Amino acid sequence: MTKRLAVFVSGEGSLLKSMIDADLPIHFVFADRMCEGIHIASALGFETECIQREYGVSFNRKKYTLEVSHLLSDYAIDIVAMAGFMTVLDEVIFEKFPEPILNCHPSLLPAFPGKDAVRQALEYGVKITGTTIHYAEKSLDAGAIIAQEAVRIERQDTVKSLHERIKKVERILYPKMVRNIIADLSRKRFSIVR
Ligand code: GRF
Repeated sequence: MTKRLAVFVSGEGSLLKSMIDADLPIHFVFADRMCEGIHIASALGFETECIQREYGVSFNRKKYTLEVSHLLSDYAIDIVAMAGFMTVLDEVIFEKFPEPILNCHPSLLPAFPGKDAVRQALEYGVKITGTTIHYAEKSLDAGAIIAQEAVRIERQDTVKSLHERIKKVERILYPKMVRNIIADLSRKRFSIVR
């Protein structure tokens, strides 16, 4: 049986679009805010869910995360791909959803984790940065690395131009890795049943 994928977005949704174009088995698209990604998904006929997050001290991260985990079980999801999803979920997600959660980060981890990775790389002055596809775990941007690809920084690069070149790489690499992991999961489950 094909595994059921959920894609989490907060922004432009270009990685989501690359997963749609790659025909991955997306069962719903989740967003923490109204964004281009969620518009792309609903315009193309995908199920969408948005739980608007609050900002500031009133934000209850654990409660929010539990709501997200309920959605994952309602849709019987087997694997999550975060694609520019900006809310850090509470670690309770790993207890409630013990299936793979993948993330794509625009730097060569462990360099430049966290927010503004592209700006951090430019400001540091490294000559090569890139992208990392990895498993999400309790610590931010620290899970096991699945794949990485380097992108050279050009003298005239701005955050925007560099990020766009990184995303160009991500739009090919990420769907490919998600597909491999889904295939892997299907094989593993099959051999256990046998
Ligand atoms: C990507 O660069 C990804 O690595 C990062 O957020 C960006 C998402 O881009 N986590 P988009 O919103 O899919 O265009």
